[in-house]
Amino acid sequence: MKLYKYILPVLKRLDHETAQKAALYAMRLLSIKTPKSPSCPALEQHIWGHAFLSPLGLAAGFDKNALSINGHFHLGFGFVEVGTVTPEPQEGNKKPRIFMDEEHGAIINRMGFPNQGLEVFGRRIGSFRLAHENHWGVLGVNVGVNADSESAVEDLKIGMAHLGGMAEYVTLNVSSPNTKGLRTHLQPENMEAILKSVMEEREKIHERLPAVLVKVSPDITHDQIAPLCDVLKKYDVNGVIVSNTTVQRPANLPRDFASQTGGLSGKPLTQASTDLISAFYQELKGSIKIVGCGGIYDAETAYEKIKAGAHLLQLYSALVTEGPQIVKEIEQGLVALLQKDGYQNISQAVGANHRQG
Ligand SMILES: Cc1cc2nc3c(=O)[nH]c(=O)nc-3n(C[C@H](O)[C@H](O)[C@H](O)COP(=O)(O)O)c2cc1C
Repeated sequence: MKLYKYILPVLKRLDHETAQKAALYAMRLLSIKTPKSPSCPALEQHIWGHAFLSPLGLAAGFDKNALSINGHFHLGFGFVEVGTVTPEPQEGNKKPRIFMDEEHGAIINRMGFPNQGLEVFGRRIGSFRLAHENHWGVLGVNVGVNADSESAVEDLKIGMAHLGGMAEYVTLNVSSPNTKGLRTHLQPENMEAILKSVMEEREKIHERLPAVLVKVSPDITHDQIAPLCDVLKKYDVNGVIVSNTTVQRPANLPRDFASQTGGLSGKPLTQASTDLISAFYQELKGSIKIVGCGGIYDAETAYEKIKAGAHLLQLYSALVTEGPQIVKEIEQGLVALLQKDGYQNISQAVGANHRQG
């Protein structure tokens, strides 16, 4: 971590994409040992048959090729989601495709899932598992659809078939704004076709079955939520990640930045994602666990998402805009906030906003 302090000024001089790539490789080199388990009873939960020693996880997209799984756990994350990986390798969109507005703690990206494909990805996960047999962290893989794919159902099914046995959970990413038509799969009839096929594929896995999560877009309308939740319940989906990036642009963002095409993340997404967590919680009432994601940048914004109904949390943008120390700062801050409100464990605070008054 200390070394990162010296690397950071160098990284800041590079363009965002090169800087992130360099940070990933540096973390890979620096983290050969299995990290010590972060033991804090107030933050520990058992979900989907696994121990989450911290509710805070790394969101998908940061490590698309599963390059540095162990390195992310060294930062203090309780769980790490790698990907989005597609069946075939692909280049993604033309560069530049990541834009940052430091003043507003915001990122716009139109990456379009550049990745090395699931063959390479699967081999890296296999190596991680072999090298760190006694690892305490929870690993998720986020699977997606190739840009030139003829069938989203088929691509997601392939993702489950190849990677489902290697991870504790599999996330179906149908909510990126950067792959044409992807978000139409959040419509109930399309979601139904995907889940039917992916769940059938999951049954064929011989090892322990992975939990299945669906990642949703913050741009869905309010009346889409109930029909979507009905389908998620019908197929016994285990979790829903709320949310991916948004195509909305708050008025206070500088015009040059806001006019970039792509998904917006970071601070401008904080409130919209928390409101959406509340709406999903009211619909699901705890039957499907919510992973709150979108604009978490300190303990308070993390805690708001817990009280709105999230059992688990993820972040991406704050890792870039605030630095890696943010992970431990948020965890320490959460312990203090729980204590202040008289909770012994974080699970007691989940959905607290819905029980008041
Ligand atoms: C540069 C960048 C790339 C991303 N790539 C992916 C991706 O491949 N798959 C995915 O599900 N989400 C991806 N995301 C979305 C994040 O996982 C997360 O849902 C979103 O950024 C909101 O969280 P944040 O405000 O903490 O960043 C990406 C986000 C960024 C900023």
